[in-house]
Amino acid sequence: MKSNLSVFFILLPTLFFGQSADVDLLPASFFKANRTQFIAQMPAHSVAIFFANPIRNRSNDVDYQYSQNPNFYYLTGFRDPDAVLLLFKEEKTFDSNKGVHELLFIRPKDKSEEMWAGKRSGISEAQKITDIRAVYTTTAFNEFGIDFTKFEEVWVEYPLQPNTEGRSKIALKNLVDDFNKKLLPQNIVDEIKPIKIMASCREVKQNEEIALVQRAIDISVEGFIELMKAIKPGFKEYQAQAIVEYFVKNNGGEYQGYPSICGGAGNSCILHYQDNRDSLKSGDLLLADMGGAYHGYTADITRTFPVNGKFTDEQKLIYNLVLKAQEAGIAVCLPGKSFRATHEATFDIISKGLVQLGIIKNDKEADQYFMHGTSHYLGLDVHDAGTYGPLKAGTIITVEPGIYIPQGSPCDKKWWDIGVRIEDDILINEKGPATNLSGRLPREIDEIEQLMLQQSYFK
Ligand code: GLY
Ligand code: MN
Ligand code: MN
Repeated sequence: MKSNLSVFFILLPTLFFGQSADVDLLPASFFKANRTQFIAQMPAHSVAIFFANPIRNRSNDVDYQYSQNPNFYYLTGFRDPDAVLLLFKEEKTFDSNKGVHELLFIRPKDKSEEMWAGKRSGISEAQKITDIRAVYTTTAFNEFGIDFTKFEEVWVEYPLQPNTEGRSKIALKNLVDDFNKKLLPQNIVDEIKPIKIMASCREVKQNEEIALVQRAIDISVEGFIELMKAIKPGFKEYQAQAIVEYFVKNNGGEYQGYPSICGGAGNSCILHYQDNRDSLKSGDLLLADMGGAYHGYTADITRTFPVNGKFTDEQKLIYNLVLKAQEAGIAVCLPGKSFRATHEATFDIISKGLVQLGIIKNDKEADQYFMHGTSHYLGLDVHDAGTYGPLKAGTIITVEPGIYIPQGSPCDKKWWDIGVRIEDDILINEKGPATNLSGRLPREIDEIEQLMLQQSYFK
């Protein structure tokens, strides 16, 4: 006999473990407004198609942790894989759904699959999350009467062979085959236009997004502060990594926004070092570049500090040069400045400083030691979508100059194995100087050395 109690217990997992379990997720109205903004920029008689990311297989029965396609997320808020969104410039009618601009296909419910891999959102839950009325399962797509020959432009975010490896293979492959069959050569299929429009939409952050980036930054900063207190000679690079990641996860961050970079001594000179397996010794600098992600939005922070708590004279000279360059970069984070302005400002200071220190003879050689750009947008992606045009109020960019002097560099040996990057996340304001969202984390040498004297929870 089915009692009311058993109904309660059946509902319980849905209430507490479904997508709606997080109370501070962006509301459906946010995603609806994003779609409206996108559709407004589509030409007459066009359709735009966005695929959710597939589940990617790591090996055998094990998949990578799932992460949604940021464009798809921005337009839907939907975090399940194997879904497809269609946006129409003109209103369409799909059976009882009259006059709609949006059509969403999602995975069908499947008891057995859900027992292994977790709950799938059903139609009504998907409608609630996205505020899209016309939601159907992908299995229904085949019989769906969409005639793509009727459109003058068909926009697809990816070529119509999206990443279909791994566990999503069958579900997505059938769908893509269906699309391909229905598309005729006379359709203008464009992959660039939707990417450009998404870049211009995502570049300027809305207040709700800034709050989520700030949250991702704050939980990462907590970890960096603890790491500075805890680090000591004998630590492994991965132990340093674990402290920051602990604070991110312990505060509700779903994952890191990118693989953590935690390199001591010579490894600090490898820009995207990810092995993080070496031991840290007294006298080494540690370059730690880590950012937790919170509800999809990520931080991107780098600090460089001495494993034994005291900078050497050479380390101080390089560090302070990078810091001075970063300050100059942050100072030009103003609306209307060209996107290159931060790099021009930092590069000028670093190249002159390297000449003064005798590390290079001619400031044209500076790119040997400062070989990357200074800024990128930050948001749903660590290297976020944006136009790279003049800086706009409401955008968040990184300012991250660096100097990297690996062993064997053509300069005095005393500089070898010094790699320094300082990276903060900067919000461009309408008026006045920018806001350093990660500015709470010490950057001055004195402040760092003082912090490193403090007792750590992990010591
Ligand atoms: N963490 C990668 C970067 O700073 O761009
Ligand atoms: Mn960065
Ligand atoms: Mn970084």
